[in-house]
Amino acid sequence: MRDETAVILENTAIAPDIFRMVLRCTMEEEVHCGQFVQVQVPGYFLRRPISVCECIDGTMTLVYRAAGDGTREMSRMKEGDEVQIFGPLGNGFPLEKKDVILIGGGVGVPPLVETAKAYRSFGRNVTVCLGFASKEAVILQERFEQLGCNVLIATMDGSAGTKGTVIDALREEGIEEGFVLACGPLPMLKAVSEKYHDGYISLEERMACGMGACMGCVIPDQEGNAMRICKDGPVFAIGKAVL
Ligand SMILES: Cc1cc2nc3c(=O)[nH]c(=O)nc-3n(C[C@H](O)[C@H](O)[C@H](O)COP(=O)(O)OP(=O)(O)OC[C@H]3O[C@@H](n4cnc5c(N)ncnc54)[C@H](O)[C@@H]3O)c2cc1C
Ligand code: FES
Repeated sequence: MRDETAVILENTAIAPDIFRMVLRCTMEEEVHCGQFVQVQVPGYFLRRPISVCECIDGTMTLVYRAAGDGTREMSRMKEGDEVQIFGPLGNGFPLEKKDVILIGGGVGVPPLVETAKAYRSFGRNVTVCLGFASKEAVILQERFEQLGCNVLIATMDGSAGTKGTVIDALREEGIEEGFVLACGPLPMLKAVSEKYHDGYISLEERMACGMGACMGCVIPDQEGNAMRICKDGPVFAIGKAVL
């Protein structure tokens, strides 16, 4: 992990309140799918953790929601601006030579892109099930399709794909078991962990140092041991963390 001054090549809205930031940076070779970087937003002391969506040809893509003050400020940054990033951080998703079901919700979807690329590069079948509030909120569907994934969409209002949750969409397709990697809101991860037992989930917590030193992002495992989301995670085997 290291600090790097990256140059913004693009920072555009791709859905309401959701932005894609493409950075020219040199971390490409070091990034493992499911890892994150911390973005130093000018004027804010704590860096903001954002998952790496994709690395390609000396660029890194981040897809993020303008959720609060820091990410709203990030969304106002312009092409050509410099931004300090720190990373890559965390352990990322395991690469196993088997078919995989990737399950994402909202801004939990971005890290699944690089993950899908890795599994496709092994020639594995990749089913991607993505959940959103509505059709307008759907992101990255085409990117997964370009990668040759079988893509299922669920929206809570039924305006695209299956009406309901990712679990409803998977049930509709008869996908009742398999090796799962998931990232998204906690209720989704709980539902995924109840249904699927072979796989991993990526968790979120507020962070300070981002590299395991401050114990600011600790959650318990099933035996009551402390696990740091930034360093021991954010990816944990299903059933390991108390959700
Ligand atoms: C490992 C990891 C990967 C993430 N990947 C993405 C991603 O790819 N795309 C995306 O849109 N969001 C992602 N998030 C969530 C993102 O970090 C928060 O939305 C963001 O930090 C909010 O900052 P803010 O200043 O806008 O909000 P504020 O509420 O003003 O933030 C105040 C403080 O709380 C922290 N904070 C607030 N919400 C969260 C949160 N949900 N998780 C962690 N810290 C939070 C902020 O970093 C900041 O330090 C990720 C979080 C983690 C932990
Ligand atoms: S943020 Fe400091 S230990 Fe995780």
